[in-house]
Amino acid sequence: MSFHRKIFLALSFTIVGISTVFILLNYLIVKNTIEIGIQETRGNEMEFLSKELTDFYIDNHHSWNQLEQINILKKVNQERSEILVLDRENRIVYQKGSSPHQLVRHLGINRELIVENDVVGEFYYYDPEVANFTKIMIGIPISVVFLLLISGSVLILISLLMAYRLSKWLASPLQRLLPAIDRLGKGELGIQVASTTKDEYGKIAEAFNHMSKELEHAETVRRNLTADVAHELRTPLTIVSGHLDSIQQQGKMIKPEELLPLQDELIRLNQLVEDLRVLSLAEAGKLTLHLTPTDIFELSSQLLLALEPLAEENNILLKLDKQTEETVLNIDRNRIKQVLLNLLMNALRYTPEDGHVYLRLLKVKTKCLTIIVEDTGAGITPEHLPHLFDRFYRTDDARSRDSGGTGLGLAIAKQYVLSHGGNIDVESKLNEGTRFVIELPLA
Ligand SMILES: Nc1ncnc2c1ncn2[C@@H]1O[C@H](COP(=O)(O)OP(=O)(O)OP(=O)(O)O)[C@@H](O)[C@H]1O
Ligand SMILES: [Mg+2]
Repeated sequence: MSFHRKIFLALSFTIVGISTVFILLNYLIVKNTIEIGIQETRGNEMEFLSKELTDFYIDNHHSWNQLEQINILKKVNQERSEILVLDRENRIVYQKGSSPHQLVRHLGINRELIVENDVVGEFYYYDPEVANFTKIMIGIPISVVFLLLISGSVLILISLLMAYRLSKWLASPLQRLLPAIDRLGKGELGIQVASTTKDEYGKIAEAFNHMSKELEHAETVRRNLTADVAHELRTPLTIVSGHLDSIQQQGKMIKPEELLPLQDELIRLNQLVEDLRVLSLAEAGKLTLHLTPTDIFELSSQLLLALEPLAEENNILLKLDKQTEETVLNIDRNRIKQVLLNLLMNALRYTPEDGHVYLRLLKVKTKCLTIIVEDTGAGITPEHLPHLFDRFYRTDDARSRDSGGTGLGLAIAKQYVLSHGGNIDVESKLNEGTRFVIELPLA
């Protein structure tokens, strides 16, 4: 059942229910008020008659015989009053007055005769005034109910019409969303819907738009990935096959040193395949981590020592800045070493001579160690920053490829940090430097 129909049904039941209760209550109140009114106007007479009749019954040894010999109405001060007495078997035992007994029963006031908690009969009292009251009593509730039914029906009709419009109005934003969801499901990634309101529907539309964009992006990344992998594989393969061709054409014995460039390319190729393998494992959450308590300070010192010659070669100052004593983390030593190495290699690669590269260890949040890799290098323009951790992403394709980069270093670093339950981010200012910030949970 559609959302619109559900709302409409719920509203309809509520409206009809409330109206019915309202009509019934009105009827009962009016009826009771009139009944009480009649009883009040002849209350004394009824009391008196009731007492006279029950006294007679008791004095007459619990029998209605000979009742007709007394004139009960003698003391009732009403004009043309009449009475009809019935025994417990509903037989007429006494009647005074000229009106037919059906009329007296119908328009008169009735009371049960009770002796010692036992109903021994009942009587109907009647006079023209009472008859008029009773007629009003019968008439008014009927006309009230009649009026209520008519006005109620009109109101119900109007309310139902409004409920219908309201439910349609409430459901309409969803109905606009449905075709878009359908089209997205059929592969039209990136499709957007108008989100004009700020309410829950607006939020759903925004969430849908965001999801649609993300799906489109993921699809583009997936398509690019195949192209990128093919592209990255082609370069080393071309080099290797070119070398082999020329060696074949020369028809000479191959000297061992001539094989070195081939071996280099094969190593590169191997590394690329291995990088892609661990990346896809990490992205699927299937990377096995060998967690051991590791002192990041000690690990960093080792790394910097190993990179010192490279830094010196370019006259770059490479420094470790330790601002906290809590540097022991439960991590996979080799993976985190790889992360730091990727970041430091980038920093050294993209920092010109006489620049500075810092590795800082500090405690900003209570349960985290913050590791910062900071350089005074070329910096990165803002438009590149959101894609920096994507696979094969390079800000300057030609330069990076020349310097040996495949654009997987940061993608791997990010996946390794994420699989440790950590977080990595980048800040950069063009011509001032770049700063990668890693947060890892403390042991
Ligand atoms: N410290 C940095 N300063 C300036 N640009 C950087 C820095 N670090 C990374 N980049 C830019 O980000 C891109 C992606 O870096 P990433 O480490 O993923 O790839 P790569 O260094 O080109 O290749 P790989 O690390 O796989 O050998 C780089 O090509 C470079 O353009
Ligand atoms: Mg790199």
